[in-house]
Amino acid sequence: MASLKDEVLAKLAAIAAPDGRPLPATGKLSEIVASDGKVFFSITVDAAQVRTWEHVRASAERAVRSIPGVQSAMVALTGERTGGGGAASAPPPRPAAAPGAARPAQAAAARPHGHGPQGHGPQPAGPAGIPGVGAIIAVASGKGGVGKSTVAINLALALHDLGLKVGVLDADIYGPSLPKLLAIKERPQTAGGTRLKPIVRHGMPVMSIGFLVEEETPMIWRGPMVMSALTQMLREVDWGNLDVLVVDMPPGTGDAQLTMAQQVPLKGAVIVSTPQDLALIDARRGIAMFRRVNVPVLGIVENMSTFICPHCGTRSDIFGHGGARHEAERLGVPFLGEMPLALEIREKSDAGSPVVASAPDGAHAQAFRTIAARVREGLQVESRPAPKIVIEA
Ligand SMILES: Nc1ncnc2c1ncn2[C@@H]1O[C@H](COP(=O)(O)OP(=O)(O)OP(=O)(O)O)[C@@H](O)[C@H]1O
Ligand SMILES: [Mg+2]
Repeated sequence: MASLKDEVLAKLAAIAAPDGRPLPATGKLSEIVASDGKVFFSITVDAAQVRTWEHVRASAERAVRSIPGVQSAMVALTGERTGGGGAASAPPPRPAAAPGAARPAQAAAARPHGHGPQGHGPQPAGPAGIPGVGAIIAVASGKGGVGKSTVAINLALALHDLGLKVGVLDADIYGPSLPKLLAIKERPQTAGGTRLKPIVRHGMPVMSIGFLVEEETPMIWRGPMVMSALTQMLREVDWGNLDVLVVDMPPGTGDAQLTMAQQVPLKGAVIVSTPQDLALIDARRGIAMFRRVNVPVLGIVENMSTFICPHCGTRSDIFGHGGARHEAERLGVPFLGEMPLALEIREKSDAGSPVVASAPDGAHAQAFRTIAARVREGLQVESRPAPKIVIEA
């Protein structure tokens, strides 16, 4: 019996590329991920040819969907710049804020504040915005396991508490966290064509590759696949009107992260670090990476700062304390605040109900709201009044 992947390739062989060749013979297909009725792959073409390939992408997707047993198919079309080096090695400069020159708030203010690609005046050279989405911010760290996802979801909830319309995108396609952090088991519904409706939790639309693939599926994402998955989650999800989209980034500062930082129209980045020297070196790398692609660093959060004993409430500085504040001062980026290492934070996260949502009156939620207020200040976004809903009789 042919594997699903073979069936997909057989279907694609009947689709002609713009030059008449069968699609699999063009060398433009990525690895095909086919598992549990879900098929995912990308077609990478020269950026100048994207338009002429769109109908091929659409036909490929239709063809794959028509295979019995396929429940969902995502085919992404990725434009690759040729000449002048790869995207990751030669990021195009963005017009706003020269690296390190402007303070983040000014840098953010200097950028077009419009919603979507319309903006004002000439188009910046960076990636186009997402219609309806105000500011996209990345929560990142140089090192894994420092609490990026925990900070990202609680920061998003805290921004929401401050009255902003907030969405969350889990861009950690290697190890998605949102399904666990929010105890989400359902699958997103399609919104017609290739578009997906995000899942809504705590009043926020959220999206993660983890909603689309089984937890056990090995994540053998290759470069272009990573990018196309991200592009699809950013641009083919009905985010609606948002003031802020919080993006939980995968850990590290390698090429994949750099490319991501470049492909997503980021308005700023929040760096999460623990206080140890080693983690701070990684945080420094993270800051350098965002500066390299001219994304303003909104500041550093020190996570797992002080340990609070759940029994007696005694505080102890296991990893040292205040390292991130010092580092922020040294690097000239704002210090956004610190979160203690607290059992309650981990327990609530593990239970699928982050601390800002489950204990909104507690000290941790308050600390996250203080961090959120500083982030909002850095972005200079105000909450928009909710649109009036008129129900006609
Ligand atoms: N302030 C905190 N207090 C207690 N536990 C925490 C805190 N922050 C994070 N954790 C716990 O530490 C673990 C790692 O956190 P998290 O998954 O948020 O890190 P991460 O940086 O996103 O990791 P990865 O690099 O794997 O994506 C989780 O079990 C989380 O619940
Ligand atoms: Mg994470």
